[in-house]
Amino acid sequence: MEGELSAPLQKADKDEEYQRETPGTGIETDAIHVGQEPERWPGQAVVPPISMATTFKQLEPGKPVLYEYSRCGNPTRQCLEECLASLEKAKYALTFSSGLGATTTLMFMLKSGDHIVSIDDVYGGTGRLFRRCMAQMGVESSFVDMSTDPSSIVKHLKPTTRLVWIETPTNPLLKLADIKEITTLVHKYDPKIMVLVDNTFATSFYQRPLELGADFVLHSLTKYMNGHSDVVMGCIMMNNEEYYKQLSFLQYAIGAVPSPFDCYLVNRGLKTLAVRMRQHMSSALRIAKYLEKHKYIERVIYPGLESHPQYELYKKQMSGFSGMISLYLKGDEVEKSQRFLKHLKLFTTAESLGGYESLVELPAIMTHASVPEEHRRELGITDGLIRISVGLEDVRDLLNDIESALQYAFSDTKNN
Ligand SMILES: Cc1ncc(COP(=O)(O)O)c(C=O)c1O
Repeated sequence: MEGELSAPLQKADKDEEYQRETPGTGIETDAIHVGQEPERWPGQAVVPPISMATTFKQLEPGKPVLYEYSRCGNPTRQCLEECLASLEKAKYALTFSSGLGATTTLMFMLKSGDHIVSIDDVYGGTGRLFRRCMAQMGVESSFVDMSTDPSSIVKHLKPTTRLVWIETPTNPLLKLADIKEITTLVHKYDPKIMVLVDNTFATSFYQRPLELGADFVLHSLTKYMNGHSDVVMGCIMMNNEEYYKQLSFLQYAIGAVPSPFDCYLVNRGLKTLAVRMRQHMSSALRIAKYLEKHKYIERVIYPGLESHPQYELYKKQMSGFSGMISLYLKGDEVEKSQRFLKHLKLFTTAESLGGYESLVELPAIMTHASVPEEHRRELGITDGLIRISVGLEDVRDLLNDIESALQYAFSDTKNN
């Protein structure tokens, strides 16, 4: 049997297409196999069963076999966590009831008097948690431009700094931060400062921050990782065993855990992560290039475009990008942006992103309304800024929809 299999494999190995740059199995293979070996389940089910039990029989009092109570551990959740860790090439992954639930749980690793340094264009909900909730608990935050000059991070570090929060690419301006450079500088200043990268927009498929030195990676699994807009969930991955022990304690002590059914759905979503991400990128790049040349478009932001201010960093740090595009229409007027959104038929106006369906939104009045107006202005989140999540529909239909909505937005106006 082995001989039969090895002959074609050896032949394939010689083919350039089959050469692997990194050791180990590919992300597509891991997504399908890691954590879900049929031998783990009674009856050897090929698809992992959903274990809804909240509690598990103990053969002797105080001596649980594998699990005791579902908040502390559950077979379906464990299966997902193992699979997620393998995709990020991490040793450990822990899941939470939402992306913000993951962030909140991590906040319990800090104490009053500690200081957070966060990227300035951070997701609105993360910024709100830092500004409004953590401030109340005595944890101060500084919001810093980590994109223009990564070395300036050092100016913002203090003896009380415990956490550096990087989001790259950012939501919604798609700014990039140099993970390796920032992490090296921060750890040189104090190796005990934790560096976290929110990898939601790039996914484990296109960017691996742990390999660049970060201590933690966070995902809102709600987005691309699940990819079907039907689950709210978050996760944190890491390699350091001590951090893992602390965070697994907090996972069950705080209790912001996902349901087994949701774990099943995310695990299923991961099976197509690679194929989805390739298609998201191919369609988004085509749309971004089209928009870039359009007479009604002022500026398109997409990391895979040569015009992106950090295109060189993009090529160094990421192996591709998702379906997120931000853009300004000519004139940058909110009325025109609203007309554009209202006329789109295939792009649904809604918050969130990363699903198979195309979505569109105005960050200033939707996802980022909680960012103070002055801060929004400084960052460039104007009232007219549009954020698009390019889905998996036929890209020609999406282009037709965009063109028709642009014509409508600019009809009967003085700029036409
Ligand atoms: C980059 C980023 N991080 C974190 C979150 C929070 O995740 P969740 O909505 O799952 O709580 C979001 C949500 O939009 C996000 O866009």
